Amino acid sequence: MKAKKLLLGLMTGVTCLALTACAANKKVDPDHYLTKIKDKGTLTVALNPEFAPFEFQVIKDGKNTIVGSDVDLATEIGKALGVKVKFQAMDFNNVLASVTSGKADLAISGISATAERKKAYDFSVPYYTAKNVMIVKKTELETYKSLTSFEGKKVAAQKGTVQENVVTEQVKGANLVSLTKNGQMINELKNGTVSGVVFEEPIAKAYVANNPDLAIVSSLTFDSSKSDSYAIALPKNSGNLKKEIDKVIQSLQANGQIDQFVESNFELSQAAAK
Ligand code: ARG
Repeated sequence: MKAKKLLLGLMTGVTCLALTACAANKKVDPDHYLTKIKDKGTLTVALNPEFAPFEFQVIKDGKNTIVGSDVDLATEIGKALGVKVKFQAMDFNNVLASVTSGKADLAISGISATAERKKAYDFSVPYYTAKNVMIVKKTELETYKSLTSFEGKKVAAQKGTVQENVVTEQVKGANLVSLTKNGQMINELKNGTVSGVVFEEPIAKAYVANNPDLAIVSSLTFDSSKSDSYAIALPKNSGNLKKEIDKVIQSLQANGQIDQFVESNFELSQAAAK
């Protein structure tokens, strides 16, 4: 009798594992995350503010302030939910993990919604699409005209970003240098420690505009079918929180406001650097 029970127990365990349906079957209240945020009265947003025009820091009234188009988007979401917005700045390679741990309610950080990341997170509808580009020293534009010209050279990408894969998969023969800080990548490019840096275009443009000794290699193109659009990362089973956020994004997109946020913050990032 006992043995039979044990066997039955084991079998259910195995079936659960096989279907991985057990966790999914556990009904998550679709209002769980939304209610949690509304009860707190605060939406905590994780980001890596070294990514103009999406998120960066400026001195406002003598104080370091996080600004950017993702900040504007977060502000609109806060308004729609009727809560205050708090920003948690961190390295990019900790941004997604902070959503898993609950340190942040969600992450808005120019995050590409890749198939891999979708396994662990819910994502909002996409809000921006950017292609990858390579930046080099202006004096070396003639040396680096094709992806193959980087063979045996060091090419940098930010740690934890899809640009790391872009380098390893598409810049064949180059040596990837992963760095946590984008500012450090720019410095290493300027002093010749690395030969190129891969960024998405708006970020590359913002850095190049502030660093006249750098340039985008315009003849160099990456496989754009492999670039995923930016979306907001949410915990799995975000239910009505995702629904509310999608509504905000869709209405902002309908009147071109997201592009406007990106444009005005690009200008702000240039003025701030002057
Ligand atoms: N879109 C890239 C990714 O998701 C880079 C994002 C980096 N964002 C940042 N705020 N540093 O991997």
